Amino acid sequence: MKMVQAKNISYSFSPESVIIGDVSFDADKDEFVSLIGPSGCGKSTLLRIIAGLVKPTGGKTLYMGKKVDGPSSGMSFVFQDFALLPWLTNLDNVKIGCSMMKLSESEKEKKAEIMLDKMGLSGFERSYPNVLSGGMKQRVGIARALVSDPKVLLMDEPFSSLDELTAETLRSDIIYHLKNKNLPVNSVIMVTHNVEEAVELSDKLIILSKKPSHVAATKHIDLKRPRNKRSKEFLDIMDSVYATLAK
Ligand SMILES: Nc1ncnc2c1ncn2[C@@H]1O[C@H](COP(=O)(O)OP(=O)(O)OP(=O)(O)O)[C@@H](O)[C@H]1O
Ligand SMILES: [Mg+2]
Repeated sequence: MKMVQAKNISYSFSPESVIIGDVSFDADKDEFVSLIGPSGCGKSTLLRIIAGLVKPTGGKTLYMGKKVDGPSSGMSFVFQDFALLPWLTNLDNVKIGCSMMKLSESEKEKKAEIMLDKMGLSGFERSYPNVLSGGMKQRVGIARALVSDPKVLLMDEPFSSLDELTAETLRSDIIYHLKNKNLPVNSVIMVTHNVEEAVELSDKLIILSKKPSHVAATKHIDLKRPRNKRSKEFLDIMDSVYATLAK
């Protein structure tokens, strides 16, 4: 089943400045899709279009077969810079994620507590983002995205502001939760510029060209998980992604 279909998406600031030329791809149920491409090719814009946060110049996105016309409750967004509100407690930051749900305040609070706990942050409910490390802040950002029980998780370079060790731990935690069906998320679309991360996490890799972007190549990655980053198969896939990006 197709969770998300991006159909002939284009985006221009003006006729002279076309950022996204023509991009189409699908994210199926149980698929982890990564979008990778050169800086400035419109990856963040594309993800915002899919989320319904930005209107495309041309084309459309379908979420479970229905046209996206604004933010949808079934899709949640994780930001590169966490985007937490410093004057709210960590718990209240997570609660924002379910503010549109028809639940009582105490039910929202309970959901937020459970999600913070799943993300390994129990004990930090009443403190503020400023006491957290970068990795912990992103855990709050991810908890905020997941607390509304989205079917699709959209992540824009979620690990790129973190040091490599922190990023690696968070990546394996996320994969653990997704694969153990601890969460209702059916598919993930992640923007990254990190080839190794993309090959580690993805079932499908969409490689974008430089702007005005189009899909330069699509690669299905069938390696068993957890993936051995030093295996020949893994390194061969990385090489072929680099080769496509260099074209
Ligand atoms: N107001 C504007 N007018 C024209 N072009 C703009 C404007 N704002 C941004 N851009 C262009 O839009 C592109 C940025 O798109 P976007 O942020 O989606 O790219 P990206 O692939 O996510 O980049 P990065 O890898 O750096 O995160 C850049 O090429 C930038 O030059
Ligand atoms: Mg970007």
